[in-house]
Amino acid sequence: MSNPKVKRVGRYDLITPMLPCKDEILAGFERFLMSGRYILGEEVRQLEEDLANDCQVPAAVGVASGSSALFLALSVAGVRPGDEVITTPYTFDATMEAIILLDAVPVFVDIKPQDLNIDPARIAAAVTPKTRAILPVPIFGAPCDMNPILEVAAAHELEVITDMAQAWGTFYDGRPIGSCARMSTLSFYPTKNLPGIGDGGMIFCRDEQDAELIRRIRGHQPVRMNGHLYTGWNSRLDEIQAMVIRIRRERFADEQRDRDQVAAIYDSYIPAANRLQTPNGGAGMKVTYHQYWVRSGRRQELVELLDAEGIDTGVYYAPPLHKHQLAEYCRVSGPLTEADRAGREILTLPIHAALPFADAHRIGAMVGEFLAQEAASTPT
Ligand SMILES: Cc1ncc(COP(=O)(O)O)c(C=O)c1O
Repeated sequence: MSNPKVKRVGRYDLITPMLPCKDEILAGFERFLMSGRYILGEEVRQLEEDLANDCQVPAAVGVASGSSALFLALSVAGVRPGDEVITTPYTFDATMEAIILLDAVPVFVDIKPQDLNIDPARIAAAVTPKTRAILPVPIFGAPCDMNPILEVAAAHELEVITDMAQAWGTFYDGRPIGSCARMSTLSFYPTKNLPGIGDGGMIFCRDEQDAELIRRIRGHQPVRMNGHLYTGWNSRLDEIQAMVIRIRRERFADEQRDRDQVAAIYDSYIPAANRLQTPNGGAGMKVTYHQYWVRSGRRQELVELLDAEGIDTGVYYAPPLHKHQLAEYCRVSGPLTEADRAGREILTLPIHAALPFADAHRIGAMVGEFLAQEAASTPT
């Protein structure tokens, strides 16, 4: 039973980090309301330009959500009914749903225990004549090892689309993760590191032609390209979301510094074997800690210990996607041992830009001690 007198430490705080820009958002809302330009105005255009620059790609297109972004990017990359798309089973449902909605087949490959991202060494074995694309997901803001993924893709003439919904600001090998693939998709869902106040998404394009196609499709224009007739649809980013996201973007670096500091505090207590290890020893990598995770074979005990101290924790992707109802539409390549283990063992700790560092020390010390005891009592 948790102590009702203790102020709980939540997993997120969507309000406090927003407060420094509240007045600016309210003024922006007044301006927006009186502009009469409610759809695809200057806010969306400017946000697209700013985020494309941040991401070091020529173009970005604002769309209705991260899910919509995935659907459009895969479609524009040429994924058609019956094609296979290789991806990770340790991700949010939307990654798989977008593939299935295109009548294509998600093919799950196991993850690496060190970073919970798709294991590049297992991708080649999953390739068949039907494979069209690889869809890596830098989960929890940790970069996937993109170079070997891009090499397998080049060897088999596959497209790569990155689902970077959780990875705004993440770098791989010295560059933004969203610049590595043909297209990368982002979500502005309010819990994300660069948040809106509702739904929203963006597609980062290395090819201006892809961006132009998406701009037309998102606004109901049918387009014929490479022999395919695309149906137009409504998948526009709201002007009001773009206004808020532009303001939050100005504070992103400060907020990220606070998240980094919380992660560094946790790292100082938590044994290396129980937390994230970035690819290539971390050189050129930037992790943005959408979530901070620890691994424990006694997860439920740890949940209860922290809950009794008023600390909320999160369990993600349990079970992983290959055990979902929609797995009926999917294929599995090889054993998914690590994805299953992650589903059983991974626990996320509170992390956000407003988390008091004293709380991070308190949580880190408790979790570190628990994990050290677990290691000492586990036969080797
Ligand atoms: C990995 C991943 N992909 C896709 C999405 C879908 O984004 P949205 O909620 O904006 O549709 C999310 C999150 O919400 C996500 O975490």
